[in-house]
Amino acid sequence: MTKIISIINQKGGVGKTTISQHLIVGLRKKNFRVLAIDFDTQCDLSFAFNIKNKFSIYDIINNPKQNINEAIENDFLAGSPLLSSINFKAKQNKEYLLKSALANIIYDYDYIIIDTPPALSDLTINALTASDEIIIASQADILSLKGIGQLAQTIQAVKEYTNTNLTVKGILLTRYNNRTVLAKSVANMLEETATQLNTKLFNTKIRECNAIKEAQAERSNIFDYKKYSTAGLDLQNFINEYLEE
Ligand SMILES: Nc1ncnc2c1ncn2[C@@H]1O[C@H](COP(=O)(O)OP(=O)(O)O)[C@@H](O)[C@H]1O
Ligand SMILES: [Mg+2]
Repeated sequence: MTKIISIINQKGGVGKTTISQHLIVGLRKKNFRVLAIDFDTQCDLSFAFNIKNKFSIYDIINNPKQNINEAIENDFLAGSPLLSSINFKAKQNKEYLLKSALANIIYDYDYIIIDTPPALSDLTINALTASDEIIIASQADILSLKGIGQLAQTIQAVKEYTNTNLTVKGILLTRYNNRTVLAKSVANMLEETATQLNTKLFNTKIRECNAIKEAQAERSNIFDYKKYSTAGLDLQNFINEYLEE
């Protein structure tokens, strides 16, 4: 069965795109068929994979007649700055546009990974409505903790109205510094929040590690660039933890 996974958090800079990138690369290295979707106007995921596709996810969402197979190149649906110009109010079934578009190609893949924008927008609702699972990326600080409360309301609304089967797979701590007392105490609080959300905090935490930035500056990923760096090991452990269930 194909699994559609959204990586979410309405905050920017918490590591969503980095998690998406490495989940995609890591699962492909394990020979799974993975479709990547860049659902963010900033197109950071498309940048990470050096994607220059002719069509983007904007064309698919904006024009339901657009053939999705033409837009998928290199198992990638590119992002577009135009995503922010879509007038969702004018569209029928506006929450289901992504879900309907994917219906034709879902069985070509084992996993579909969606990187989402830093907002609780119509785009996010479309991603959550189309998904089987979500992974919440979060840093270990107090504002992130607060943000997850707001996010929980959106998730609850989606579960109620557009996607009753949505599962929150877990909260993944990113850019983690295990040397600070504050980070550890926020991590403990996040564990409680996870329980309230009926989910868990992943055992694996992705530590703050400069090699990630170096890898991305080289248009590469940590597995090819520095597999044995702290973040390289953490990201691998995370993928193994995810797959173990
Ligand atoms: N584990 C990490 N260690 C160090 N830097 C990281 C780590 N994860 C992400 N970053 C950096 O933090 C910035 C924001 O990450 P990004 O994945 O783009 O977050 P988001 O998609 O949530 O905005 C990027 O410059 C990225 O290189
Ligand atoms: Mg991003």
